[in-house]
This record gives sequence, structure tokens and C-alpha cells, in this order.
Amino acid sequence: MIVLRTAADVRAWRGRQRRVGLVPTMGALHAGHVSLIDRAVRESDAAIASIFVNPTQFGPQEDFAAYPRRESEDLALLEARGAAAAFVPTVDEMYPPGDATRVVPGSVAEPLEGRARPGHFVGVATVVTKLLAIVRPDAAYFGQKDFQQLRVIQTVAQDLRLGVAIVGCPIVRDEDGLALSSRNAYLNDAERRDALALSQGLFAARDAFARGERDAGRLRDLVRARANTPALSVEYVSAADPITLAELDGRADRMVISLAARVGKARLIDNVLLGMDTSELR
Ligand code: PAJ
Repeated sequence: MIVLRTAADVRAWRGRQRRVGLVPTMGALHAGHVSLIDRAVRESDAAIASIFVNPTQFGPQEDFAAYPRRESEDLALLEARGAAAAFVPTVDEMYPPGDATRVVPGSVAEPLEGRARPGHFVGVATVVTKLLAIVRPDAAYFGQKDFQQLRVIQTVAQDLRLGVAIVGCPIVRDEDGLALSSRNAYLNDAERRDALALSQGLFAARDAFARGERDAGRLRDLVRARANTPALSVEYVSAADPITLAELDGRADRMVISLAARVGKARLIDNVLLGMDTSELR
């Protein structure tokens, strides 16, 4: 595996490849990231992962400085999974002096994470657009774990006619149901146990939907009832249209139920997609 540190090196490398699959990450890789990498390796001639903790998507009070950084372990893991290349730029390489252009996504970025984290999706859309422009992959792989992010990137790629397939991949969970996240590293054992109420709430909604419940309000209430424990501070529970992310009232045959909550020092997000499959999102 080749480690590339500049956009110029990536362009030179890309010119020698056929079908390229890109997996953008912020590192501290876990089995969730690995599922994306394995898929990119399977579906491309050359899979490339980027590792970049993107400062523009973190708010001033957020965890940019504390975010886990484990470059050498990450590179070993990527190599072991069969990635052909890793792109590991510096902040200056991605945002050189004078850099000022930003990609402002549309209404799909407004609710939920967009409301809770002002500027977050401008940072995400900007860095992903830069990565797509540098690598020019045939396909780029994103996890359903960050559901709204996946929809934001799909919308940006479509609106800007980027000509890349944005492929959504299912959420990888621990055996006990907790969605894997680099931020789970912030949890102690007790907080990790407390956090299970989040996925359990979402699974209760999934089970109710499977039994025929279609009322968005009742499904939201069901998740709230499970997740509202003293150890958790729930920021939102949403039942939204999976395409537009508009909040739903009444009955719907397709919805994404998503939540954000604080557990100790960590802010966790999770979701379940009901009535459709991740692969149907384009
Ligand atoms: P990061 O949090 O490192 O996640 C990189 C990719 O891995 C994202 O597409 C995310 O949805 C996916 N992922 C994370 N946990 C997952 C899980 N448990 N199951 C499946 N996929 C999972 O998301 C980002 O980085 C950044 O915002 C980025 C897109 C790289 C832009 O900076």
C-alpha cells in the first residue's frame, strides 16, 4: 500500500489506476470503517482511504483537539484489508493559506445534526468535495451510521454533477447493539452500558414498525421512552422522510428514526432506516 500525503501525489497515482473506490474517514478506524473499505476493495481495481480530521466540520466548542488520532495503526489496518493507497494530508494541504471557498448544501442539511451543529455540514460538504476532486473516484463509500451526512453528500454530488456514485453502507454494531463509532473511545464501562438504551430504543421502534406500526409520532415516543434514562441527555429523537429528512407527522411507509444524545463526554448519534434499504438511497 502506498501512503500519499499531497494532492499532487494522489493525482499522479490516480492516473495509473482503472476503477477507483474512495473511503473518506477521520481515522481511529474500527469495524464500521472496515466494512466500507472491504466493499471498496471488492468493487474497485484500487481502493483508497483518506484519513483526515477535518477542522472545518468541528464547532469551536467541539472535540477537534481531543479526536483520537492513530495513524500508524490505521495504516496497518488499511494495508491488511487490501487498500491500494491511503491519502493522509495535513490541514495545510487541504486548506492552504488563502483557501476560502465553501460548499453550502441545501435543505437536507438543515434539521437534526445541521441544527445541533451549525456549520458542520458546510465543513463536511467542503472537505468531501475537495477529496472527490483530488481523487476523482468512480465510487465513494459512506456509512448509514451518519445518515444525514450520507444524504447531504448524495445531494451535493448530484447537484454539482460530480459524476461519482455515492454508495451507502449499513451500520456496523457491536454484539450488544451499540453502533461502532470512533467517539465510543470517550466512554467508560458504565457510560457504555448506559448508551445501550439508544440502540435499544431504535430497535423497539424497528420491531413495532415490523408489527405494522406506521405512525411517526408513536414511533418517536417509543424511542424517547426507552432512551430517556437519567444517564443520557437526549438532544433529539426524529422520525423523518429518508430522502428529504423532513420531519414526519402521521403515517409513513418509509422513515428514518434518528437520535443524538450525550453520554458522559461523548455525543453519540444512531438511527434505523425503516421500510427501505440503505442501498436504495442514491
Ligand atoms: P468518520 O466518522 O471517520 O466516518 C467515516 C465513514 O465511516 C463515514 O461514512 C461513516 O458513516 C462511516 N462509519 C462510521 N461508523 C460506522 C459504523 N458503525 N457502521 C458503518 N459505517 C460507519 O464521517 C466522517 O468520518 C467525516 O465526516 C468524513 C465523511 C470523513 C468527512 O470529514
